Amino acid sequence: MPKRKVEVETARLEARIPVHVYEQMQRAADLCGLTLTDYLIATAGEDARRIVEDADIVRLAPEDQVRFAEMLSNSHRPNERLSREAKRHVELIERRSVGLFDFRGVKNSMRSLPSIKPLRIPQVHYRGRLCMYPCAGSDIAPVIRAFGHEFDTFLFVDLSYAFRKSFKLQLEGWAPVAETRHLKGPAVSPVQFIAAGKFGHRDVEPAWLRQEYRHVATSRTIEIVLRRGFGEYALHELADGSLDMFIHRGDSLGEGGSGVTFLGNQSRRHTPLSCMLSVLKRKLAFPALIASDGSNTPIKELRNAAMGDDSIMQFSGQGLAWERVGSLEDGHRKGTVVWRVSESGKARA
Ligand SMILES: C[S@@+](CC[C@H](N)C(=O)[O-])C[C@H]1O[C@@H](n2cnc3c(N)ncnc32)[C@H](O)[C@@H]1O
Repeated sequence: MPKRKVEVETARLEARIPVHVYEQMQRAADLCGLTLTDYLIATAGEDARRIVEDADIVRLAPEDQVRFAEMLSNSHRPNERLSREAKRHVELIERRSVGLFDFRGVKNSMRSLPSIKPLRIPQVHYRGRLCMYPCAGSDIAPVIRAFGHEFDTFLFVDLSYAFRKSFKLQLEGWAPVAETRHLKGPAVSPVQFIAAGKFGHRDVEPAWLRQEYRHVATSRTIEIVLRRGFGEYALHELADGSLDMFIHRGDSLGEGGSGVTFLGNQSRRHTPLSCMLSVLKRKLAFPALIASDGSNTPIKELRNAAMGDDSIMQFSGQGLAWERVGSLEDGHRKGTVVWRVSESGKARA
């Protein structure tokens, strides 16, 4: 289906600011991989949106909250006029909205109004010790080679996965276990762009391809789950405290990359996509492992360590204690450092 383009009206913003402030903003934008304009939209624009949104929220004093709750629970039966108006509302408003922005069954896609939270994201449970890698693309074999004996389930997530019948993973030393291939969701679904008023968002039908693999030499079995969809939703749907390892590498904030800051708390208009590091911290089973090549993260220690600074062996940041425990070697790519993370104050002695 052809993608629809969203035309956004623009206006010009001019401001004279001290050179040192300008230079610092330009440097911050460079570090985030953004143009200065995109950086301003992501920071000042986002801040403005929050302030305006906050001004529209009705705040109640504690006693008013109690009164309001009491009125709701002791409410009188609706009179005839209210019943009539409620019926009219259903006919006029609710019926019309179904099909436009339909939340039924929340499909873990971004099919929702940009600033409205989905009502619920169903949880998905995986067997045993879990390793997750969002935006993984085809970077699967090196992970299984390095960690195949450490974890029971490997969850790779990517927007562009397609599971045609001929699709087969080639994993040296591992063989698929017969009769364990299971596909939930459509085999193929293109990423589409949905225009919604002034905004737009990508959308894709989620799917899970699960398959067990047996290690030929040791007979150990693991389950590999390839999940088509947004990594952000895949993270939300994990049970809190259930994730033993998180891998993110080879990604970028620009063209060709996901633009997602999993290892950082970036604010986004659509709440489930905001502050992914805070979400990740809820999902991790501490002490847990995080592998990063420094892509898409504002944490400078992760970037510098991946660039070859071997002096960074441990640091504290983002409420976590990070201890370098190894690397994910893979011939042709630059370093991916593996960190053991604990909640700050609970680091290993
Ligand atoms: C630059 S590639 C990196 C692939 C892999 N990490 C590697 O190192 O080879 C980025 C991948 O992220 C996927 N992607 C983009 N946005 C995504 C999102 N929000 N959730 C999951 N995957 C996403 C793209 O389809 C693409 O395969």
